[in-house]
Amino acid sequence: MPRILVSEDISGVEMDALRREFDVALEFDLWKSFDKLKATIADFDALMVRNQTPVNAELIAAGKKLSVIGRAGVGLDNIDAAAATKAGIVVVYAPEQNAISVAELALGMMLGLARMIPAADRSTKARKWERKRFVGTELYGKTLGLIGLGRIGFLTAMRARAFGMDVIAFDPQVSPDSITVTETRARLLPFNDVLAQADFISCHIPETPQTIGLLNYDAFSRMKPSGFFINTARGKVVDEAGLARALEEKKIAGAALDVRAKEPPDSPLSEADNVILLPHVGAFTEEGQDRVVTCVCRDVAAVLRGQAAKNFFNFPLPRKV
Ligand code: MLT
Repeated sequence: MPRILVSEDISGVEMDALRREFDVALEFDLWKSFDKLKATIADFDALMVRNQTPVNAELIAAGKKLSVIGRAGVGLDNIDAAAATKAGIVVVYAPEQNAISVAELALGMMLGLARMIPAADRSTKARKWERKRFVGTELYGKTLGLIGLGRIGFLTAMRARAFGMDVIAFDPQVSPDSITVTETRARLLPFNDVLAQADFISCHIPETPQTIGLLNYDAFSRMKPSGFFINTARGKVVDEAGLARALEEKKIAGAALDVRAKEPPDSPLSEADNVILLPHVGAFTEEGQDRVVTCVCRDVAAVLRGQAAKNFFNFPLPRKV
């Protein structure tokens, strides 16, 4: 019977189904010890992870029997997909299953910043009644600037339009005549123009060598002083020292971060009321997780049965190398 190693907490109905069909080792804390993980992996046909297990070339080389790696999420920054591909191992993931959850959180953070919801909540619980202090701004009529107009950027744009916002976007990979642009009526602009024109900047780009540190002090300095910055993508696309400085110098009005360069971070970026911090929960809704776990479990099972995966990054069936 094929063996599956699950090195992070991935559970749900579809995982239960997987356990009935295969020999599944649920080692939810294994990601914390790379040496142990490396020593264990050799006996397994499949590895299932979230975003904390470093599935690097060393681990992949140790996984002599691996035919499939399942990533319960969209970001592949913790997977050396090139090494897996070279080894003929299928990489399956959840390219869009949690996108609605993340887009909804991006809107939630925009509202949270515009209406100072966390600060007003703290104040009211402290038995104050500070109505004047919490005069916010509307989203209506404001401009949303998207850095990245992929699946999540698109869904965020559609929701922003429902709030009566204009949408501008920077995404060199999106064609001006794509359905994404037509449907959102987004104007594609150069990076610096998006920064300068938007009232809210929301980041929806993956972590790549080109995007690491893209949102730095210089970028924040180009934003409107009344502008808000939201990041639900990957922490490393932001230079956190640059953001802290920009907030300190009031180059921008506030920021909301769901993701950090180091997770969990060593310290909060700021304790100020105009900064909202969350523990990387964009994808964490009942519905989003249900879809993510279902799609990854089904694809891992398919590959182990010799069938083609549906949500694959490289190829649908293992390759002989
Ligand atoms: C994703 O990449 O799907 C989300 O950021 C959540 C996660 O990393 O698991």
